[in-house]
Amino acid sequence: MDSSKPAKAVKNVVEAAAEKVTGVLTPQIPGAPGSAPPSVEEPTTPHDPLPPKPEQGAPQTRTPTGAETGAPTTANGQQGAHLTTSQGARLRDTDHSLKAGPRGPILLQDHHFREKITHFDHERIPERVVHARGAGAHGLFTSYGTAEGVTRAGFLKKGRETPVFVRFSTVLGSRGSADTVRDTRGFATKFYTDEGTFDLVANNMPVFFIQDAIKFPDIIHAGKPHPDREIPQAQSAHDTFWDFVSLHTEAQHHTIWNMSDRGIPRSYRTMEGFGVHTFRLVDEAGATVLVKFHWKPKLGVHSLTWEEAQMLAGIDPDFHRRDLYDAIEAGAYPEWELGIQVFPDTPEETFAGIDLLDPTKIVPEELAPVQPVGKLVLNRTPTNFFAETEQVAFHLGHLPPGIDVTNDPLLQGRLFSYVDTQLTRLGGPNFSQIPINRPHAAVNDMLRDGFHQQAVHAGVAPYRPNSLDGGNPFPAGDDEQAFVDVPVTVAQAPKVRANPVSFDDHFSQVRLFWLSMSPVEKEHIVRAYTFELGKCYHQAIKERQLRCLANIDPVLCAQVAAGLGLPVPEPTVPPAEVTPSPALSQVGKQWPADGRMVGIVVDADSDLDGVGEARRAVFGAGMVPLLVAAHGGTVRDMPVQRTFATGRSVEFDALLLAGAPAPAPDAIPARDAKAGAADSSTVDPRVLLLVEECWRHAKPIGAWGGGAAVLRQAGVSDSPGVVAADSAVDAFSAVKQLMAGHRVWERFPATIS
Ligand code: HEM
Repeated sequence: MDSSKPAKAVKNVVEAAAEKVTGVLTPQIPGAPGSAPPSVEEPTTPHDPLPPKPEQGAPQTRTPTGAETGAPTTANGQQGAHLTTSQGARLRDTDHSLKAGPRGPILLQDHHFREKITHFDHERIPERVVHARGAGAHGLFTSYGTAEGVTRAGFLKKGRETPVFVRFSTVLGSRGSADTVRDTRGFATKFYTDEGTFDLVANNMPVFFIQDAIKFPDIIHAGKPHPDREIPQAQSAHDTFWDFVSLHTEAQHHTIWNMSDRGIPRSYRTMEGFGVHTFRLVDEAGATVLVKFHWKPKLGVHSLTWEEAQMLAGIDPDFHRRDLYDAIEAGAYPEWELGIQVFPDTPEETFAGIDLLDPTKIVPEELAPVQPVGKLVLNRTPTNFFAETEQVAFHLGHLPPGIDVTNDPLLQGRLFSYVDTQLTRLGGPNFSQIPINRPHAAVNDMLRDGFHQQAVHAGVAPYRPNSLDGGNPFPAGDDEQAFVDVPVTVAQAPKVRANPVSFDDHFSQVRLFWLSMSPVEKEHIVRAYTFELGKCYHQAIKERQLRCLANIDPVLCAQVAAGLGLPVPEPTVPPAEVTPSPALSQVGKQWPADGRMVGIVVDADSDLDGVGEARRAVFGAGMVPLLVAAHGGTVRDMPVQRTFATGRSVEFDALLLAGAPAPAPDAIPARDAKAGAADSSTVDPRVLLLVEECWRHAKPIGAWGGGAAVLRQAGVSDSPGVVAADSAVDAFSAVKQLMAGHRVWERFPATIS
């Protein structure tokens, strides 16, 4: 999508609305459930199921072995107008069990009761052992063809379009935990290529806590809630986590990424993604290169503030999920470029002295630029969350010809773990036949039977060699798109449980990351360490982590130590000489603001013509305007989306004030303690709270007409990023410009240089 243009669906809304003489927009605010507005009375006339919402997609209708059926994707779900049993027999009644008389007891012969309850009793499957909390969406990957010179992978040929399904996730929390906790995020992409499925199972951080997969249970046990009380949920701010990472110092690089703003993304749409490991690409002639995969978001990297993240965990625990689906529904399709860093495939497997097999190390982009190879657009939400997002199964071993693995010991262990866990999670060995996992390439394996087998295999000889099935299936030759296991030379070496010495440096790149941050990002890192360690009970653990920080940077260590009230330890290794990588900072750039939420505070006395213009301008810029008023309903003809009671600052990226609403009846402090502000205020205290919070979170604020009085009462009139304009359009235009920088960082001059 051309980033200079407003998102398509939003544009359509604007065009449709432009035809209206009233100048008032038809509401097109994303999020409403169902594809048709419900009636007040219960519908009783039989009709077929309603279609999905326009933005919803579903897995293609393929057979379990990958053949296209040509059926519409709605055929994946239910059919017909009438309620039936699972066997298709129509039912007259599902509200009463079959009883011996109206007063019971229930009869064992009630097969409908038993079918309904038995199925319900087994609706839950185990959640993922990690990354349990997530959200997925469908999309399309279009290749630029720029990787053709280094890989034979067909989906990377110029102009090739490949359907994808992406699942974003947190790592530590349970399935029902909050989205905005401080954690690493998963970014797993399933490319349904016509040469077999490719899964790029990535994270939003380029390094990992451990260098060897055998340590994975250790880091996860340390990060998960304590086994005795099962608290805290979805957090690293506790003793077991810091106990482990302070002892197991190879975790320090990943830990500083988690303590940085990358640990609290604003949105899945504003996250980078990293394949972490080095992979090997092989071209038509068998030549190889080593690569690292990167996803670069069109909207730039953008994060929450820590206070926003904490508030959202209570106010809207589904914040990231909602943001993803609302953006797609609004037509602001999330977009990333896939890029690769390319390195020569030398026997040492190093680049610029960096061991490419060590997953705790990055290669700075300044040394090896990320070269764009294609574009990912997410344009469909799932039709059914369980069927698609919950049942999707990713695996690093899902590789098409042209992409191969390396000996990174973390990658090697992952190659075992995913299928192993999915056998239990998805109840048997046939989960690749679940619709969301079905390949879009012809499947002719010799795997047979097992729980939930859905393919009806023909033939009598699922073995090789055979003559009874005429020799089918046949191995593919080199010129028939066969997968290539690159014949890499394996070093002659003793069998050991050990790492190469090059894995021993645990601190230099942590320092590189720290020194690459802007002052405000450094300040956030200091606060995050201080918060997390401050939540630990044991002084020894805090002291031990301070020793690690001393090896990273004296300023970082001193500031955290001051917050904890502990002495500053001496480093045990001298802080490394490193060159910062400016590409790691997320501050100081300009980005499009598609799909962002703009709150507009109104009351009956506001300039309502101006409000209509502001809404049109916000829609026209590819964003979503939400009217905030004292109570629900409409202001003039315009629908109110949030009231002072239901709306909070954290759901808006910017705020416009069209008026200065007087305190509403439900805001009287005596009745509503959370309202908070001084009795003498002439503005509703919750509006003042909205402004104060937006200001504290460095969000752009604009006002016109009566709205300027709110800025004065909130005491923010003369701050950077606060605009009092003559008209609605001018106010929004100034705010829009500020939004391109993500936040008004200069509102908070940082103290760390
Ligand atoms: C670079 C390091 C790693 C990355 C980037 C990574 C990424 C991910 C992602 C994105 C998911 C979620 C997949 C989904 O959405 O369904 C996931 C799940 C999982 N990961 Fe990893 N992971 C890493 C390391 C490991 C290691 C070392 C192991 C084990 C040895 C492991 C085991 C698992 C398991 C068991 C799941 C759950 C899979 C399922 O139930 O479907 N991961 N990982």
